[in-house]
Amino acid sequence: MSLILDEQFLSGFVTQSELDAYTGRLAAARERLHTPDGQPKGWRTLPCDTGEELLSAVETAARTIREEADILLVIGIGGSYLGAKAALDFLPGANGPEVLFLGNDMSPSHLSEVLSRCEGREIAVNVISKSGSTTEPAIAFRLVLELMQRRYGSEAARRIWCTTDPASGILRQMCEEEGWGRFEIPRDVGGRFSVLTPVGLLPIAAAGHDIRALMEGARTAQRLYDEPDHDLLLNPAYRYAAIQDILSRKGKSVELFGAYEPFASGLSLWLIQLYGESCGKDGKGLFPASAQFSTDLHSLGQYIQEGQRILCETVLDFADTGCGLTVPVLGSDHDGLGYLEGRSLGEINRIALMATAEAHWNGGVPVTLVTAPRRDAQTLGELFYFFELSCAVSGYLLGINPFDQPGVEQYKRNMFRLLGKPGYTGTEAK
Ligand code: PA5
Repeated sequence: MSLILDEQFLSGFVTQSELDAYTGRLAAARERLHTPDGQPKGWRTLPCDTGEELLSAVETAARTIREEADILLVIGIGGSYLGAKAALDFLPGANGPEVLFLGNDMSPSHLSEVLSRCEGREIAVNVISKSGSTTEPAIAFRLVLELMQRRYGSEAARRIWCTTDPASGILRQMCEEEGWGRFEIPRDVGGRFSVLTPVGLLPIAAAGHDIRALMEGARTAQRLYDEPDHDLLLNPAYRYAAIQDILSRKGKSVELFGAYEPFASGLSLWLIQLYGESCGKDGKGLFPASAQFSTDLHSLGQYIQEGQRILCETVLDFADTGCGLTVPVLGSDHDGLGYLEGRSLGEINRIALMATAEAHWNGGVPVTLVTAPRRDAQTLGELFYFFELSCAVSGYLLGINPFDQPGVEQYKRNMFRLLGKPGYTGTEAK
């Protein structure tokens, strides 16, 4: 069983004839996606292209990390860490070193907290940066490098793995000079589309998860959603893009990714980055946000139900979370929960999901349910690929380039100017 789009709570917001009108536009989007034009589209065929050699190399490095480290420091920002974070939150049964993410902020308190957690524990490091020069991870790496050299001396190099561009960048150069372990991010795969490269695979494998199952799920998704060139409206990845486009053109401006399982919270953050950087340009795109239910039903829930009618919602639903917890039978009904005795928490949680979706829909919020079969690596691989593909199609439907992120540069130019970085004067980068 694969992903299912449940559209019952779109009724009244998206009609069949509106969807039918997308046939030609979806075909044009597919044509663009499949046409080489110098844009980084390599992620599209990555699942089927990834060979045994790379998977074995990642597993070997992961094994060394697992044998030698109590803590794996994963240094990266944006697409260089959110995929791994999503997977580590999502997948049950981690049995490797504790994975700590850093380099995604410059908070002195966070950085010193992470460094002090390393005291007395064996450390390995995976520094991840495609450009090799992003300031936040570069600063974190410098702090960690100082610690590693102080702690391990010449042995430090054996504990550092670097994931970066195959040919250029400062990190690549440092890696060659210092003899650290090295993995490459393919040139034609951009940061936020890189979770299925060593960017995501190494931390995921080091934590003890099955990257082969993850890739198998992604391969299934590539075959299901990317390869067929007919009936694009029956292809859930293309159909989901059309639905979002219709809702956006009808005045919705916020896409709220909701989930009823905390294990999906990292996935929501990954989705926010994927959609935010890919589709938020030229004054277009739904603003991606996330909500964690039931928690947020008692905060954002009020706004979702009755605030500005600018929201649409995508709910990640899991048919089976593999957890058999039931409401205990107590023999008394003081808490008034006797009517739930013996029922599974999974069932109750899904009923809450359906009840909430219905309420939001009645309140003017269209809800798309994306139902995944299980909580496992294969399903996650399929989810990653499904959303990458659908997001790229969304970008083309909006008429923007989903593979660049020019807006991210503005803050960097200002920051470099204020920090006095050589080469930066005024707001102009030299
Ligand atoms: O999706 C993207 O391209 C970005 O989010 C990058 O991943 C992020 O800016 C980090 O860049 P880098 O890997 O070059 O340090």
